Amino acid sequence: MKQATTIKDLVQALDIISGGRVITSPGAVTGSNPFVVTKSSNIPGKAVTEMPGLVVGDPEKPIQKVAVMMTLTESAIELAGASGVDAVVAHHPVADAANSGGVLMKTYVDLYKVAVLELHEAFHGRHPGIAYLHGHDAAFADIAYSHIPGNILFVGNTLKGVNTLGDMLDRIDSFMGVDTEKALLEAEKKIRDCPDIEETAVCTRGKILAGTPDSIVSKIMHIFPHTGFNPVHMERALKEHPGVDTVLATISRVFPDHDLVKKAKALGLNFICGNSHALEIMENGLPLARAIQILLPEIDVVIFKERMTSLPLNGFGNDKLQAYATDMAKNYLT
Ligand SMILES: [Fe+2]
Ligand SMILES: [Fe+2]
Repeated sequence: MKQATTIKDLVQALDIISGGRVITSPGAVTGSNPFVVTKSSNIPGKAVTEMPGLVVGDPEKPIQKVAVMMTLTESAIELAGASGVDAVVAHHPVADAANSGGVLMKTYVDLYKVAVLELHEAFHGRHPGIAYLHGHDAAFADIAYSHIPGNILFVGNTLKGVNTLGDMLDRIDSFMGVDTEKALLEAEKKIRDCPDIEETAVCTRGKILAGTPDSIVSKIMHIFPHTGFNPVHMERALKEHPGVDTVLATISRVFPDHDLVKKAKALGLNFICGNSHALEIMENGLPLARAIQILLPEIDVVIFKERMTSLPLNGFGNDKLQAYATDMAKNYLT
């Protein structure tokens, strides 16, 4: 009889996917693994250390169903418990309480027999998909530009059929299925009888900040503004990569008055914002889930997709719930 697939097999699969960057032996949490990184904005008590691999759970535990997601939340834990998920793989690093509804992660997930694994920086750079989706080949890649870890810079030539900024916007809209997200939002507005709902994927669509849809694009400098890329880096990267005509910002973006946009204009470059972080589940989550499924064909792999919406205070909940909230607020909270 074939032995059951275990958490250990899942850790092994993540190690293959990441090219050997996962912590595979117990206790090997420090030392030479450069993907064990502590992230800190120097806000006291708020740092977190990324530990690629198993975070909570018994390595010998058999698994049948695995959920892949971007960020672990209390909703994700509840959904995992209720839908028979044995292990969750979160892309973004997890921390006690922060990713488990304010309570201890271990006591919470143990309750539902759910193991937690994470794979963040150890996964980054393992496939060229984000550049591909935006229409270039990322022929040059530096994951620590100007010696800043995580300051990713790609430079690439456009792919066949991508000739203008408009082509880039059309390309990401079609891959991301923006029409479906728009239709969902319109349906939700009708069902909830609330016209003022906003949803991330729809309101953070691609946007041109310098240039027009007809502006010619042939060589792209692809940056991630939240990782520390600054105007000095832009000027240097342009010198190092002559022929660049377009700056592409993805995952995060900048407002039109940002220094990076001013710099791009001064250098005669187009500036375009591509997919936001809210779509990383499509850019990175789906390839990660597919890779797990290919390596472990005997288990079920599902994707936990977030859908963040903004509702006006008066548009949230039904009349009964609104009356309840007003009662609590007036009589106890103010
Ligand atoms: Fe990521
Ligand atoms: Fe991310």
